[in-house]
Amino acid sequence: MIFYFSGCGNSRFIAESIAKELNDRLIFIPEAEREQQFAYTLAENERVGFVFPIYSWRPPALVSAFVRKLHFDRHPDYVWMAVTCGSNGGHADHVFRQQLEEIGLPLHADFCFVMPNVYVNMAGMTIDKPARAQRKIARSKAHLPAVVQHIRDREAAAEMRRGAFPGFKTNVIGKGFGKWVSDEPFFATDACVSCGKCVSVCPLQNITLEEGRPKWHGHCTNCDACYHHCPQHAIQFGKATKGKGQYYFGSEE
Ligand SMILES: Cc1cc2nc3c(=O)[nH]c(=O)nc-3n(C[C@H](O)[C@H](O)[C@H](O)COP(=O)(O)O)c2cc1C
Repeated sequence: MIFYFSGCGNSRFIAESIAKELNDRLIFIPEAEREQQFAYTLAENERVGFVFPIYSWRPPALVSAFVRKLHFDRHPDYVWMAVTCGSNGGHADHVFRQQLEEIGLPLHADFCFVMPNVYVNMAGMTIDKPARAQRKIARSKAHLPAVVQHIRDREAAAEMRRGAFPGFKTNVIGKGFGKWVSDEPFFATDACVSCGKCVSVCPLQNITLEEGRPKWHGHCTNCDACYHHCPQHAIQFGKATKGKGQYYFGSEE
């Protein structure tokens, strides 16, 4: 069983690739949350995995909130996590391990895939140049078989890429990140053609069209799916996204 979250498709690609190889069930966390589905029955020897993007050197808040409510009918004998990140995840594995411990689960392995960056909501933060994005994807695709083999063999792994000052990033910047997460700065420019793509790609169903324009409803996680998928590049986040490009998994092909 694999629980996953993804805004722009990087983590979905990793989760789906692993699930396909292992013939595992996939559960999209926002959907399970909407259905209030927190109790799961495990088959004998069934592994449990989690796949999500790194948000400010931590697991996304919605993943942590979901995990706190999770319950299994039996103790899984192998638990793994795989993160995708633009460059590094600090001590996100420590945070997640502790969150799992709180519900009585161990963590046997953590895997890390460096994928194209999607975070554009701050000055100076932008998407990767196409060649760099392609290289990251190629390396991640090449890394997948080894990860699948580790999971199949139920091996321990510790792959987190920590980057510089991981403690400071995870415990200071990451902890304070929540107060920066908001959908208030999002708006659609006159280039908007009311196609509704933003509505359909929002994993949290946080967007509706009002008089043909997107309206955000305040329970956003800043995954930036709406910004990146807009076919007219009409969605902006205050002044932070001015002049920046778009990326979602598959858009580079
Ligand atoms: C809100 C937010 C915060 C992010 N923080 C980090 C970070 O701390 N470190 C990092 O390397 N990448 C960071 N990223 C980049 C994503 O982790 C990366 O692009 C990821 O692969 C996106 O996954 P997705 O396509 O499944 O949504 C952040 C992205 C977002 C949207």
